[in-house]
Amino acid sequence: MAGGRVLLLVSGGIAAYKACYLTRLLRQAGLDVKVAMTDAAQRFVTPMTFQVLSENPVASDLWGEGQSRALDHIEYARWADVAVIAPATANVLAKLAHGIADDIVSTLLLAHPGPLIAAPAMNDNMWAHPATQANLAVLRARGVHLIEPGEGWLACGIESKGRLAEPETILAEVRRVLDERRADRPARRFWAGKKVAVTAGPTCEAVDAVRFLSNRSTGTMGAAIARRLAALGAEVTLIAGPGAAPRPAGLVDYLPVVSAAEMARAVAAVLDRGCDWLFMAAAVADYAPREVAPGKIKKEDQGDTWTLELVRTPDILREVVAPRRAGLTVVGFALETDRLLERAAAKLARKGMDWVVANDPTAAGSGFGDAPHSVHLLGPGGEVWANERPLGKDDLAGELLDRLAAAAEGAA
Ligand code: C5P
Repeated sequence: MAGGRVLLLVSGGIAAYKACYLTRLLRQAGLDVKVAMTDAAQRFVTPMTFQVLSENPVASDLWGEGQSRALDHIEYARWADVAVIAPATANVLAKLAHGIADDIVSTLLLAHPGPLIAAPAMNDNMWAHPATQANLAVLRARGVHLIEPGEGWLACGIESKGRLAEPETILAEVRRVLDERRADRPARRFWAGKKVAVTAGPTCEAVDAVRFLSNRSTGTMGAAIARRLAALGAEVTLIAGPGAAPRPAGLVDYLPVVSAAEMARAVAAVLDRGCDWLFMAAAVADYAPREVAPGKIKKEDQGDTWTLELVRTPDILREVVAPRRAGLTVVGFALETDRLLERAAAKLARKGMDWVVANDPTAAGSGFGDAPHSVHLLGPGGEVWANERPLGKDDLAGELLDRLAAAAEGAA
């Protein structure tokens, strides 16, 4: 592989010994490696081990060796093409999620502007703790590449989730991230500088002051597409319905909306500003209550049954996008629970899309939220790609953007 500069940040867990082997693997892969260690990591493995394996001085202290050395070490953050925290303890992840820089590793993490891979390892209860999971959600949304811990024997003597991923898995991720950064990579060449709008999430249609109609969409797919596009250098506007997916990093603009009508207005405004591509990943409600009661509708006034009259919401693709199609490439989404490909192809033609991403949320290996997912990408000539095994939405977004770039360049 082409060379690259890796900053390996080792935090304090028994799995620190595996980081020694990872250092060797990275060097054997032709990569330059510099290592920084927390105090706790140095209780498990000495800096000398990493110095010998990495063939570089190890940053082990923010203060101990005089100010000029400390500043030298901060240079490690700028030097690196990619940073890797392995093992990443709950503590170092929490510090990064909250921007705390109180030792050499957390300081380097804040000073590193490039991509970051984190391979957590910890006790299973620490992993499952809501604080850790909330921090992981923040880091994921910022684009940190998380390598989930595996299941197996933990140092605390039980078999559960929390083991550091194997060094070979971490090396593969380093290679993938470095490859993604290469300026001559076709997807980067294609997406860099493109103006792209993405819609995500559900819409909520008010029934009264407290109730609404909505659907199970979380906005994860649209957020992943927006984040990946931004990482590839596109100018991304995300129009987000009220889903649970956190706001991704690197956007040019972020427009939160609630109802289908609001989303329609936001899409119109963004397209009128000038746009090259539109991804309609939102699960827009198809119907909304005809009238919205100003207060709370009381059940005493309804009796045992309640009939709500619903009216169609604007079909954004047909009513807003179709009149603004000049110079715009449209990727729609089709969610179908039967005759998936046939219906998706019909939708592509009927709604004036260039591409459609079809998925069946009830199929094995698919679903709402961040669960692994399978999709089919269809163009005017039929299916062009489908993932062979279910992928997390972030990886799926990366694959879709690669395929679309290749297909669009091929057609140009
Ligand atoms: O017809 P259906 O709702 O299944 O089409 C799905 C596609 O149409 C998605 O890309 C979705 O974002 C878009 N859509 C829309 N306006 C609506 C409903 C869906 O643009 N009112």
